[in-house]
Amino acid sequence: MTARPGPWASGRFDVEGHRGAKGLVVENTLASFAAAYAVGATGVELDVRLTADGHVVVWHDTELLPHKCVSTGPDLVGARVDDLTLDQLRTVDVGSLTLPECPGQKPDPGARISTLSEVLAHGVEHAPGVWWTIEIKVDPRDAREVAARRQLLEGVLADLHEHGVEGQCFVHSFDWAVLELSAGLAPDVLRSALVESSVTWHPGSPLTGSVVPGETHHDVCDGAVAVGAHVISPDHAMVDVAFVERAHDAGLAVLPWTVNEPARIVEVVEAGVDGLVTDYPDRALALVASTQRADAPA
Ligand code: G3P
Ligand code: CA
Repeated sequence: MTARPGPWASGRFDVEGHRGAKGLVVENTLASFAAAYAVGATGVELDVRLTADGHVVVWHDTELLPHKCVSTGPDLVGARVDDLTLDQLRTVDVGSLTLPECPGQKPDPGARISTLSEVLAHGVEHAPGVWWTIEIKVDPRDAREVAARRQLLEGVLADLHEHGVEGQCFVHSFDWAVLELSAGLAPDVLRSALVESSVTWHPGSPLTGSVVPGETHHDVCDGAVAVGAHVISPDHAMVDVAFVERAHDAGLAVLPWTVNEPARIVEVVEAGVDGLVTDYPDRALALVASTQRADAPA
């Protein structure tokens, strides 16, 4: 039994639906989360941002993109989420357009962007044991997002506590300064350091908080530990047995993203990861069960 804190601490491999279950139903909608719960996902990953009037909403993109969003009132496509109030955002249909790269993805016509509080309430009602991986979207190269970093994180932490899920979640970010801030504000809430190949870990990286790659630390796992992470969440292309062993030796669990191809799902599972994020939790659950892992979800 692993001592690494997280859903795996109870001896269960963690299959997390990405943005709900993006491969099954349009992303980050309540219907997409419901699809993840229906197939038995043990966790869900989602993205959060702030509106202009300070609400924490569940949406991936900085701007409302034309291939995902349809205005039903004034034309808001192209606007930044943080330039719009919640009421303005609610006029946009984010459920009607499906993505060509996700064949089989179902629409949810008329769906609106949800607040984090709404998604948590829905999840607590329909899947009370699910694990929450809350990606705090802050680009440290965007001065506005940096200025709002603390407000966004404080809003997320308040929502997690209000819904009583602070003990079954990760604060998850590519911006490791978020993790350092979270360690100070809510030391008991677990933290997950996102890593993108060739983007996160290089000299001069703006993404690694107070850690300076190549100066204060020479290994990405050691850097993640230094910012207070409990989990390292790499682009799955980085994952092999050696990477998993390095992370585990450093005390980190490994939660790669976004693993969709069946053969690759099997490879990362057999490399020893603790869980994975996927657009297709149904597919991943079946494949994990087909491996020799004793911790496959029932
Ligand atoms: O959590 C992993 C994954 O969601 C990170 O990438 O762009 O889909 O938020 P992105
Ligand atoms: Ca994400």
